[in-house]
Amino acid sequence: MRVLLYFPGSALQRWTSALAALLPEAEVRAWSADAAPLDADYVAAFRPPPELFARENRVRAVFNLAAGVEAMLALPTLEPSIPIYRLEDAGMAEQMADYASYAVLRWYRDFDVYAGQAARSEWKQLKPRRKADFAVGVLGLGEMGGAVARRLVALGFPVRGWSRTRHPLKGVSAFAGPDGLAPFLAGSSAIVATLPLTAETRGILDRRAFAAMPAGSFVVNVGRGDLVVDTDLLEALDSGQVAGAMLDVFATEPLPADHPFWHHPRVTVTPHVSAVTVRDASLAQVAEKIRRFDRGEPVTGRVDRDRGY
Ligand code: NAP
Ligand code: GLV
Repeated sequence: MRVLLYFPGSALQRWTSALAALLPEAEVRAWSADAAPLDADYVAAFRPPPELFARENRVRAVFNLAAGVEAMLALPTLEPSIPIYRLEDAGMAEQMADYASYAVLRWYRDFDVYAGQAARSEWKQLKPRRKADFAVGVLGLGEMGGAVARRLVALGFPVRGWSRTRHPLKGVSAFAGPDGLAPFLAGSSAIVATLPLTAETRGILDRRAFAAMPAGSFVVNVGRGDLVVDTDLLEALDSGQVAGAMLDVFATEPLPADHPFWHHPRVTVTPHVSAVTVRDASLAQVAEKIRRFDRGEPVTGRVDRDRGY
């Protein structure tokens, strides 16, 4: 079998050698715009250039080297009948749970306020919040959101979860579907968005959503930047309806130097690092999926084009 690999940046050769070592029975090659087509059976890629699928026309399946598939689904050259498989956890869920717990605890315990006070040598104790009064809402309860919700439960927070279909998770109050969103938000002092970007979720965190939350709530976005309407979040921050935000993903990445999020006093920006792709775990998972597909066995993580994730 022939496998073509694409990964942006200077790591392409290292990723290709690592996948070749995991699939000794295959011919594994790095994508190059200058090389002749490989006639690949399989493509493993993250955000590949459209030319790749324009030139490779024998591809049987695509293995997305990320959890999010919106970029792959947007490729006009990728034939819709070709199945796409995505990464499932592959070492990212634990990182995501770490990031979300840090964001929530930092806010809940006022560590950001104390850091500001310390910079001014100011000794002032704030009234502590009570966990029982601080429910955290997790949007999306898949590989990422499920891990986040379980970790927040273990930390003792009341946790609410919202997904497309209802998920019974121990210790998590379940909400589902469009009708469940407003009641879910109404009881969440903080939210953590782990949703994929789809036609239904684009712009879901807008003025209406922020208004549905209790005044002075906290917003964490680790899903995709376009879940949030930036101008609505800035407006909610300025009115105090949203008191703070920790954002890891943005509509344009890198976040443009003149974007107001960079210097907003109540916004913390991180550069899309809440859960980075772990090369060895990802390629081991992809190698196993390729082998199973090639043997005609069931493969998990198939993307549903109609749902968009
Ligand atoms: P997943 O396992 O497919 O889970 C997606 C979750 O979102 C599911 O619970 C799904 O509901 C829910 N959902 C989707 N559309 C919805 C809608 N319209 N209304 C309500 N709920 C909806 O995906 P994952 O592996 O957890 O990854 C989720 C996203 O995280 C990725 O797509 C990516 O954008 C992002 N991500 C970011 C980073 C980072 O570093 N920032 C790293 C990894 C992933 P059902 O359970 O009912 O299907
Ligand atoms: C990272 O953002 C991913 O989707 O895996």
